[in-house]
Amino acid sequence: MMEYAIGIDLGGTSIKYALVNQAGDLLLEGRLPSLAHVSAEKVIEQLTKAATLLKDEAIKQKLKVRGIGLGTPGIVDESNRIVLGGAENIVGWENIDVASPLEEQMSLPVKVGNDAGMMGWGEMKFGSGKGYTHVVFLTVGTGIGGSVFIDGKPFNGYANRGMELGHVPLIANGERCACGAVGCLEHYASTSALVRRFSALAQERRQSFDAEINGELIVRLYQENLPTAVECMNEHFYYLGRGIAGFVNIFSPQRIVIGGGIAEAGTFYMENIRKVVREHVIADCALNTEIVVASLGNRAGLVGAASLFL
Ligand code: BGC
Repeated sequence: MMEYAIGIDLGGTSIKYALVNQAGDLLLEGRLPSLAHVSAEKVIEQLTKAATLLKDEAIKQKLKVRGIGLGTPGIVDESNRIVLGGAENIVGWENIDVASPLEEQMSLPVKVGNDAGMMGWGEMKFGSGKGYTHVVFLTVGTGIGGSVFIDGKPFNGYANRGMELGHVPLIANGERCACGAVGCLEHYASTSALVRRFSALAQERRQSFDAEINGELIVRLYQENLPTAVECMNEHFYYLGRGIAGFVNIFSPQRIVIGGGIAEAGTFYMENIRKVVREHVIADCALNTEIVVASLGNRAGLVGAASLFL
């Protein structure tokens, strides 16, 4: 009999959730605002809301649910299920036990891991990492997260405290990042960086739009050749590509897998990134490296989180 787990991917903007089975199939996929700018309590409330929706549906459909896997930004002490810090995009998300309140409310066991780490697991098992041993995963969204598999095993640094690939310095004398350091890759190449940059330029140029300015809108305007959007997207490709070139030189992986909503913008997205990487990488390091989109797309994180129970 198929068994299921609840997979939740907490992001700075939204919570993605679904019921996932051992084959990696998704049931009842959905999304809620994470309310990360309000408070940690609110975020936990939203997580509980998502889990409740799924649990109720599972009961209705008589499905067996083993537990709740949660991917969250930040450095996670997986054994004590504590987010230690490094999740600056969520208010109060520091030294926080997310699992216990969720477990109490839901009466289901809860496991917690870093969101990019979960994306890596999801893609290794069911997606673009399947069949490969040396893979670097990047998730590009409100922040930039990373995970690395070496010889088929995750490498997370000692005590699971590393792999903050979004926080490598890109611009030595750049602007301050949410993490407190200066010029991080995330600060220049995340989707929120793109939105920030585009909004500032548009305002300068007295351009206004009917829709909310987000990654999707900027990509659409880029495809319509609006100069402000073209300029900002090219900047985005450049920064992200420069960062990735560094990862290729360090890890020389078989694949770099990019996830997060914006990576699904279209084939042009990867092509532009590949071009920048090619121009800046040490060719011998890049010999065996392909740069590809996460084939589970935005679902990779929640699938990986659920798979902690499957
Ligand atoms: C955090 C990471 C996280 C990434 C993606 C970064 O700002 O430092 O821990 O994986 O955002 O959410």
